[in-house]
Formats: sequence, structure tokens, C-alpha cells
Amino acid sequence: MAQRRFLITSGLPYSNGRLHVGHVAGAYLPADIYVRYLRATGAEVRFICGSDDNGVANLMAARKENTTPQELSTRYHASQQRDFAGLGIEFDIYGGTHQPDYVELHNRISQELFLSIHKKGLFTKKRTKQLFDTETNMFLADRYVKGTCPHCKKASAFGDQCEDCGAQIDPLTLIDPVSTVTGSTPEVRETTHWFLRLDQLSDRLQAWLESKRDADSAGATWRSTVLNFSLGQLASGLRERAMTRDLDWGVPVPLDDPDAAGKVLYVWFDAPIGYVSFTAKYCAEHEGDWKAYTRWWKDPECKIVHFIGEDNTVFHALTWPAMLMADESYQLPHNVVANSFLNIKFPGQEEEKISKSRGRAIWVEDYLGMFDPDPLRYYLTAIAPETQRTAFDVDDFLARNNTELLAAFGNFVNRTLTFVHKYFDGQVPPVGERDDVDRAQLAACKDAADATAGHLEACHFKAGLSAVMNLARQANGYFDTTAPFRSRKTDMDACGRAVNVCVQTVRTLTTLMAPFLPFSARKCLTMLRLGDDALAWDQAVVELPPGSPLAEPVILFKKLDAAELFEA
Ligand code: MF3
Ligand code: ZN
Repeated sequence: MAQRRFLITSGLPYSNGRLHVGHVAGAYLPADIYVRYLRATGAEVRFICGSDDNGVANLMAARKENTTPQELSTRYHASQQRDFAGLGIEFDIYGGTHQPDYVELHNRISQELFLSIHKKGLFTKKRTKQLFDTETNMFLADRYVKGTCPHCKKASAFGDQCEDCGAQIDPLTLIDPVSTVTGSTPEVRETTHWFLRLDQLSDRLQAWLESKRDADSAGATWRSTVLNFSLGQLASGLRERAMTRDLDWGVPVPLDDPDAAGKVLYVWFDAPIGYVSFTAKYCAEHEGDWKAYTRWWKDPECKIVHFIGEDNTVFHALTWPAMLMADESYQLPHNVVANSFLNIKFPGQEEEKISKSRGRAIWVEDYLGMFDPDPLRYYLTAIAPETQRTAFDVDDFLARNNTELLAAFGNFVNRTLTFVHKYFDGQVPPVGERDDVDRAQLAACKDAADATAGHLEACHFKAGLSAVMNLARQANGYFDTTAPFRSRKTDMDACGRAVNVCVQTVRTLTTLMAPFLPFSARKCLTMLRLGDDALAWDQAVVELPPGSPLAEPVILFKKLDAAELFEA
């Protein structure tokens, strides 16, 4: 079989704040697990991310912090990059749409795509009315107007999207609009913008999304949440959307037209192009030619998968594919994997939404100052908000670390390897005459490898992790049943046989845990004296030969009981 090829992206975080656990659970950790798994299957993968530096959000944040958007975005870009590294989320490149090393290529590719769509006649230039904040002398767009949603009538709508029903909104249709910058009631003024003809593209979008209803020939299974939402939007009709803004921070509109002066591309137009421009930068650095990005973006042999938080669905499943369709030279996403939001529950308090402004969040930086990354990776996958909102419950996090990760997983690995050192001279014991119980345990290893792979292929990360945990639990059961701690006194052959099977199980667990718990898998590799090639999925059940020397066991997981450390 030809080598599979994937380009995986995670939604570009706005570089205007620190990362919290909700971000990690949404777009980054699942993507990292997927990438690690795909690589273990031998696929060629590039994992692309970087910061979303443009847009009015960063401009406003800079204003608040009394600094420039460049300084702000560079500072948070660095902080987010550190957080990802600390969690073992390993991108091949971490770019930034307005970072000094990236902005030139990013602007170039963004402007080229804009011009290509322009040439195809899929923009309309229109004089429009827009809300204007007279106190700051700025047109107000996007999230800087609040009001009542014209669709669901809840007072939870921003100028671009309703928080409650998810509908995309034309800010002029907001009921009782208020500027969130100054609190004043905005004035309606005229300006010129270029609108993407989403209405003209909707038939093609519809046909494409419909084709994703069933797993396609390449096996992509789209989450029904993503499909239903997007097809629902199409059913209610897509309207053309302005892809330019009156701002002086962003990618300049590349038109030789006096009306384009002082305008930039809409941040949701240029941000996804960051995926492309960072790929191009990667190619420039590693392959000597930025144009080699086409091997990832314009070759249907490569599968593009976007991991995002649910609030990004409309942009990744509709607007972005529409842009790519309009251009006609790019391929479309193979899959768009969206996760719901994560709530938070501090000890003794009600479950609530994560909120930066109210200080109700667990920041990655703070977490990493106290704990190892794997317990967080474990918990966020075990409670992954794949189909609905779930909560990071501090007590539950600690309990699961102690009862699952440590008691089931760590304990099995530890008791097995300790045994090898105590009674077998640190070497894998002889195979002996295996009986049905032994064979059943080894078959369970094979089944777990297959089951985990099946779940991960389908982006069911939570189910994948539980298949691994089931093997660990079963392995403890095997250890208890075969009781080498008893047979070592009476029947050293039986003892060695059981411990051999346990070592083989640890070996399988090492490969299976690696996508989820890469730091712990590394410790296991060291203990088993295996190299990275042992992480190849098809090596998972290849047995360690008897007599192989093992290294001294180290502790994989620590008991955690520091709920007070999480006080918000
Ligand atoms: N910055 C956006 C957010 O945090 C995500 C941008 S994803 C991209 O919601 F596709 F536009 F890059
Ligand atoms: Zn609404």
C-alpha cells in the first residue's frame, strides 16, 4: 500500500491571551494524538499550527494592555508556544500570521488567494452601512457589537455570531446594538467592502457536505454535529459575507482601487490561509522551496484534516471550503473535527463556563508549574467533549489520576518490571509452555491494538483511550489470576511464564499509550530498552525475546491530592 499522507491543522489560537485547558481539549490535544497515531502507522504527516495575530480582537486586547498589536501578539505567541511544548503537543511548525518570520509569505499567499477569487468574479464590491463607534472613531465589526439575536431573540449575540443558537449574524440586524468597546450606542455609517458570494457557492458546498454523510471511500467519518450544523446553515441560506475590514492591522487588501485604501482582509479570511502559509514556510525551511506546499494543499493524495473548537465550525466547514472552491486550485478538507467546549468545576462549586474575564479557568502555564503533562492529557481525553460539552472537574481529575492512571496503568507496569528485577535478574523470563489463560492475555493485546487503531482512525479519541485502559485493567486481572507472587515460591516455570506475558503486555501498552501519553511511553521505552521504532503500530505485539535485559523501573504516575492548588 502506498504511504498515506496527511496534513493536520489545529485552529490557530488568537495571540491575545494565555491558553487554558479548554483550548487544549478542543483543537490541540486530539490533533496531537491523531498525528502521533498516524505516524505510528507509517503515514507521512505534517502538523501545522501557529498564532492568529490579525484582527480586531488582538487590536482591542493591545489597546487594553496599552501596547501595540505587534508586541502583544509576539508575546502571547511565545507563551502559547511554550504551553504547547510543555504538553508535548509537537507541531512541525508553529507560525503566526503577523510574526516577523511569517508575515511576508502569509500576506503574499493571502493576497494571491483574494485576487484569485476576485478574478473568478466571486466577490461583489458594495457600499454598505455599518455600525460606527464615534468615541473611538472606528467601524465596529465582529465581536465588538453585542445585542439581541435576530434569530433566537436571546440577548447573547455578537456582531458575527450568536453564542446561543450559533447562527452567523449580520451586525446591522442585531436588535439594540451596543459597542462593547465603549458601551455607547453605535451609529450607522457607509463604507465599501468586498463580499464573498457564498450564495453562489452554496450548491457546491451542499453537494460536498452531503457526500460526507457516509464514510467516504477514504474512510473519513464526519461528526454528525459538524455536518448537521453546516447543512442546517445551508438550508437556511448562505448570504454573501464581507471579507474586508476598515482596520490598519492585518493583511492589506491587494486591489488597485481607491476604495481599498486603509482596508485589510477580514481576519477569518486570512487566518485559515495561515495553515497554507505556515506549510509554505515549513517547505521553505525544510525543502528549500516554499512552493512545495502544493504537495500538501493541491494534491488529492494528501488528506487535510482540521481540528477545531465548535465555535469555529461555520468557518471551517463553510466559509473556508467556499474560499478554496472559489479559487479552484486547492483540494478541500478531508475532515473537519470539531469538539464542544469544556466547562469547569472547582471543588465545592457549581459547574460553570470557563471564563477568562471572571478568572474561572485552569491555565496551562499554571498547570505545568505543578504537575506532569500526561495526567492532563489523560484526563482531557477521558472526558473529551467530542459530542457534547463536558466539564473539567478538579476532584474527578485527581480521582481518575489516582484510581485509573496510577492504580490500573502505572501499577501494572510497575509490578511487572519490579518483579523482573527482583526475581529474574532484570531479564525477560523464558516463554515456557503457555496455556489458554496466557494465550487469551496475548490475544487481548492484539485486540486492544486493533480496537484502539479503529477508534483513532475514526477520530474517536475517548474510545481509543478506553480501549487502552481496558487492556491495562485486564492485565492487572491476569497478574492477579496467575499470581506470580505466589508461584515464585512453588513453581518458578509458571512464575516466569506469567511474568513473560506481563512484560509482553507492557510492551504492547507502550505503543498503544504513546499517542495519548507520550512522556510515559518514553519512560516505558527506556525501561524496556527499546528505541522509537518500537512505537510503530505494527510492532505493538511483537514480543520481546526472553533474556532481553530491562532497565530499572521508574515511577510512571504520581499520586495527586492537591485540589487546593486549583483554587480559582
Ligand atoms: N483564532 C480563532 C479562534 O481562536 C481560530 C482561527 S482558526 C483559523 O477562534 F482557521 F482561522 F486559523
Ligand atoms: Zn441566536
